[in-house]
Parts: sequence; C-alpha cells; structure tokens
Amino acid sequence: MNARPDPAAMRDLAVDLGIRAGRLIREGRTEGIRDVQTKTSDVDVVTAMDKACESFLIAELQAARPGDGVYGEEHGERSSETGVRWIVDPIDGTVNYLYGIPDYAVSIACEIDGVVVAGAVVRPESDEVYHAYVGGGAFRDDVALHGSTPQSVALSLVATGFGYVATRRRQQGALLAKVLGSVRDIRRIGSAALDICYAAEGRIDAYYEWGLHAWDFAAATLIAAEAGLTVRSPVHEDGLLVVGAPAVADDLAQLLRTHIDPAWGVPD
Ligand code: IPD
Ligand code: CA
Repeated sequence: MNARPDPAAMRDLAVDLGIRAGRLIREGRTEGIRDVQTKTSDVDVVTAMDKACESFLIAELQAARPGDGVYGEEHGERSSETGVRWIVDPIDGTVNYLYGIPDYAVSIACEIDGVVVAGAVVRPESDEVYHAYVGGGAFRDDVALHGSTPQSVALSLVATGFGYVATRRRQQGALLAKVLGSVRDIRRIGSAALDICYAAEGRIDAYYEWGLHAWDFAAATLIAAEAGLTVRSPVHEDGLLVVGAPAVADDLAQLLRTHIDPAWGVPD
C-alpha cells in the first residue's frame, strides 16, 4: 500500500504546476482565445486555452503521480486508484481572460480521501501565488495571510459572482439587490478563486456565491480557512458558499438566507 502523501509536498506540486500553467495561459493568450466555444449558455465561454491548459495539468499530474484522480472543469473526472484526487480549474475567470482583464487564475487543489489538504491559486498577470496545506497556514508567495478585521457586515466590502444561465443570474441579481443596502459595497471581480484568495488576504472582507463547482473554490477555500477565515461550504457542490472574516461571515450567511427565496431552489 502507498504511504499517505505529505500535504506540504502536494502543495509544492500544486504551486509548481500552477506557475507553469499560468505561464502557458498568459504567454499563449493571443492564440488561445482564437477558438471560443460555448457551454451551458451563449455567455458561458470556453477558449481553446482552457482545454489546452487542463490537458497540460492532467498530463503533468499523471507523470508526477500515476494513478491519482483528476476532476477538472473541461475534461471531467478521471477516477483515482490512490485515494488522491486533484481538482483543477485551468482558467478561473475565463471571461476576464477573453477580454484581457487581468483577474484570472489557475486553481489546483489536492484532495486525500475526500478532504482537501493542499492547494494553489496562481494569478499569472501579477505572478502572485496563493497557497496552503492543511495545518500550515496560508500565504501569498512568502507573505502569511490573515484576512481583514471588519467590525460588521454593514462595514464589509463583499464580493460575489453570477452563473451563466439567465434564470439563475436574475435570482442572484435579486439577492444582490437586497444585500447591497446592508454592506459597505460590492465587488464582482470575475474569478471565484481570486475572490476567495482576496478575502484571505484582506483585499475584501467577505465573499459569497451559489451555483459554483468544486474546481472554482476547492483550493481557495483551503487557503481562506488556513488564513483564519470562516468558510461555510455548501453541502451540495452548487449550494451557497460564504467565506469571510470570522466577525462577519455567519452574519452575512444569515443575511443572505433571510433573503433567499425558497422558490429559487438553492440547495444546502
Ligand atoms: C466563473 C468565475 C466567476 C463566477 C462563476 C464561475 P469560470 O468561473 O469563477 O467569478 O462568478 O460562477 O463559473 O467560468 O470563469 O471558470
Ligand atoms: Ca471556474
């Protein structure tokens, strides 16, 4: 039987692959956005580079750790023979990438027996690398992250995001309209992974969204938790995720739940 992998070593691998994948997508952008297709709706885009980058990650992971599983946004699931599964988003913030807005990222998480133990989120346009392994603290490069210390939800800068299907997006807009009057302000940065890392760093105070997939948040929520933030993960992958400074996260979750219409069918 294989020895249980060391989370710090898994973090190192995630960082190394994230940096190399980040270089690939930044340097290959002009060519990589020539071929753009759509997925769940006309506004849900996937570029040739999303697919090429995920193929790169899969190949590198299989070479480094044969038998590990990989769950990615573009190529789906490859089952694990080792108890280790990598959850990857080759480009989180694909619409930003397409338009040349610098807030996009590569997200790589390592899960052992169903628990995320290590992760890296790389923002190629600034060479910023957010990373963590369980019990080891959270960092941007070599700077330890501890989030922010807002006094209340009312004084919190809150980020969120929207899905690609119009019905859900209208519901998310309706919820945002309710919340907007109860917070300092709202940011829609365009990459869930970066939103959550920015909360870990204290660039914003909190973040929420529903309808995400694990590849959007698996690495970043570990980084946030290791930075000392409160992470309220959804029971079901596409339920409500709330991440924030401990002083405000549960109050924000409560505020959101007060305004979520049961008819929207937001899962737990
Ligand atoms: C999206 C981004 C966005 C969030 C969406 C995600 P993608 O991921 O993270 O910020 O609001 O829900 O789907 O499509 O750019 O990989
Ligand atoms: Ca994504």
